[in-house]
Amino acid sequence: MNLLQNISLKSYNTFGVSVNAKRFIAVTSFYELQQLLKTEKELFLLSGGSNMLLTTDIEKLVVFLNIKGISIDKEDDNFAYLTVNAGENWHEFVLWCISQNYGGIENLSLIPGNVGTCPIQNIGAYGVEVKDVITKVEGLTIDAEKSVQFSNSACKFGYRNSIFKNEQKGKVILTSVSFKLTKNKHHLNTSYGAIDAELTSKNILEPTIKNISDAVIAIRKSKLPDPKEIGNSGSFFKNPVITKTQFEQLQKEFPTVPSYTISETEVKVPAGWLVEQAGYKGKRFGDAGVHAKQALVLVNYGDATGQEIYKLAQDIQKKVFKIFGIPLEIEVNIIE
Ligand code: EPU
Repeated sequence: MNLLQNISLKSYNTFGVSVNAKRFIAVTSFYELQQLLKTEKELFLLSGGSNMLLTTDIEKLVVFLNIKGISIDKEDDNFAYLTVNAGENWHEFVLWCISQNYGGIENLSLIPGNVGTCPIQNIGAYGVEVKDVITKVEGLTIDAEKSVQFSNSACKFGYRNSIFKNEQKGKVILTSVSFKLTKNKHHLNTSYGAIDAELTSKNILEPTIKNISDAVIAIRKSKLPDPKEIGNSGSFFKNPVITKTQFEQLQKEFPTVPSYTISETEVKVPAGWLVEQAGYKGKRFGDAGVHAKQALVLVNYGDATGQEIYKLAQDIQKKVFKIFGIPLEIEVNIIE
């Protein structure tokens, strides 16, 4: 383990925000992490850096979790059971699964970040959430350096939510995630309109998991900015869930409002639509802005500070609330 001092975290977060880390250490094994925890408890954990907005320099020891490795725990005729260490890149893992014909996460192609953080916000896209394939999450407690396991139900997964954002926040470092994936009879999920359209345009009638992954990659590339080109953290806000009664009122005033039914009493409204209606789509304020093709994504055109991006987010929240009376909840972790 090599301790670095006073380094910029610009290349360690997908927003590309430059803040200073006083002390920085990369950890490459479970053992190293356990050793480190014996002497250091005040840590700032960094993984793929894809779901955070850094607004200030980091005084705590920054621990870059870089534990790699994929193991096949068990295989039978129908399923493969895998355990993947936290530092594996999510999209590379998805592509590897597709090359092995392991199905279940193809709809989650091209999501930035690492495997170790996928359970925290229960990543989801195009009709699939990672909770659908996770069997177990393992970690290390910060206080007692003890290894802990969470079954799928113990993770208390919800829409962009889990126990790791709530009761377990700051208490456990996730070190590996276990998955159950299909080897045949894949449950293909093409119901999300854009996927169907993409497959039809390519004349694909009986898609493979690779076809679906390719379709998702094409759709994401057409709408979402590549963090390597323009700094961003994917959806900045959650899609708000409102009551059906509230929705009916809203619909009277804004007849074109899109929606997804959640239950008999609840409706989800796309935050991207709300932000667009509030006039922010494609707007730029210095180097901070709102993506021109998807208003749910805030972007850093180069040298925006975390505070500038956060200020823009707060302005959007205020305007959306003023127009629609709907509070927009920030999905990205704000580091203050
Ligand atoms: N819309 C607009 N204007 C916009 C963007 C969207 O009017 O600028 C409306 C359109 O009516 C569109 C609807 O919103 O039909 C939904 O848009 P989209 O299909 O792009 O999905 P989303 O609800 O905006 C969610 C996830 C994305 C995920 C997509 C696809 C959240 C917070 N975001 O976005 O996740 O890729 O669905 O499943 O749930 C992420 O979390 O980083 C992320 C990109």
